[in-house]
Amino acid sequence: MTRTRRARATVVAAGGLALLLPAAASAATPTAVTNGTTTLRPSGAAYRTLKRADVAVLPIGVAATKGSRIAIPVRSGVVGTVSRLVHGETDGLLLRGEDGSARLTDLRMRIGRSSSTVTGRVDGGSPGTLFTLSAKRLDVRLASRAASRKGVTWKLTARAAKTLRSRLDVRGLRAGGFGVATLTARLAAPSSSPAPTPGTPAPAPSPSPAPAPLPPGAPAVASVTSGAADWGVKTSFRRYITGPIAGGKAVPSDGVTTNPDDTYRFGPATGTVDRSTGALSIGFRGQVYFEGHGSGEAAALRVWLRNPRVVTTPGATTGRLHADMTSKGQDGRLVDYPDVALADLDLTAGTRRTTATGVTWSAVPATLTEEGAPAFGGFYNAGAELDPISFAVTTAG
Ligand code: HEM
Repeated sequence: MTRTRRARATVVAAGGLALLLPAAASAATPTAVTNGTTTLRPSGAAYRTLKRADVAVLPIGVAATKGSRIAIPVRSGVVGTVSRLVHGETDGLLLRGEDGSARLTDLRMRIGRSSSTVTGRVDGGSPGTLFTLSAKRLDVRLASRAASRKGVTWKLTARAAKTLRSRLDVRGLRAGGFGVATLTARLAAPSSSPAPTPGTPAPAPSPSPAPAPLPPGAPAVASVTSGAADWGVKTSFRRYITGPIAGGKAVPSDGVTTNPDDTYRFGPATGTVDRSTGALSIGFRGQVYFEGHGSGEAAALRVWLRNPRVVTTPGATTGRLHADMTSKGQDGRLVDYPDVALADLDLTAGTRRTTATGVTWSAVPATLTEEGAPAFGGFYNAGAELDPISFAVTTAG
């Protein structure tokens, strides 16, 4: 094939009376948050343990690195006696180690006098408390409709430390300091949108087009309780890796098994299926590491592919396959492609079977995207045919 190496690529400012009110009194009236940012600088005992074990803390989704910090956008929330800052469902942190990785997403911060926490999901699992926070309140500046707090310590909880210990295979990881954050939130003008009641996360925007009505009592969005995906990445790539040219190997780990046809089985599955529109978002756990042209750190070809995720649009005609990838660049450095939209899925050419308790998709054709091409060293063009993917999940609720 032609080697086409691509470029690597309340309370309002507007009311005179409100301006006279002390900030604390005004903040007691819950005010909706329109947006904001949580900026985290990893530091502390738990973070140092991860660093010593070569686990990198990276942004995922729309979160981004800013120098030594990670900025995670705040999507919604409320500021009051108890404040809540809600980040995007698929945004957050990727902890990437040699022997495993973990995605911390759907981060929701609660700041209150009695307790301040960050809840979130590890690899799309059920939400749990991941961190406790040192702050008891946000500082509210009415004139500029802003709330903020600096120097907020994030401490990893014992439970989260236990989960991450096994996911990342870092034995010494304990509860303790993980980072110091600056929290900022922009407050809505009271006329623009009524403040949600404290305790209730801001409602998600309604999907478009409107879902078809369901029988009474049947919730539209069901959680995935189990399942797996069969995918071989690309048959010719697997052959090239283990063949005479690259002379390397493919190493499945983190629960991945090899099927009789040499494709991989990723799982367990977590995520959601919208039964009224067919839209789904499902992650499958596991990693495959490809190595060639040398071995270990000296290998010229090193590609990690982790936690593939299938996301389909309402109507279920098109979809995308995302994954967390890392690939050794030409300069010898490892480049991360967290949550890269690796492949376009043509659902019209796949086969769907739905039952009351689950959904199965078989032989869905996948083609490489522009974003995914650099992770394969630019040896494939966007549109290159990858292996078709099949997956089966069961749902509840
Ligand atoms: C010492 C460095 C390398 C050499 C000498 C080399 C050589 C080759 C050759 C000769 C082919 C053509 C194989 C064929 O047509 O059967 C090939 C294909 C390919 N190489 Fe490399 N390569 C190197 C590094 C890399 C790296 C760093 C990557 C990054 C992932 C990579 C990814 C690929 C891919 C994806 C193909 C296409 C495989 C297929 O589907 O047929 N190679 N390489």
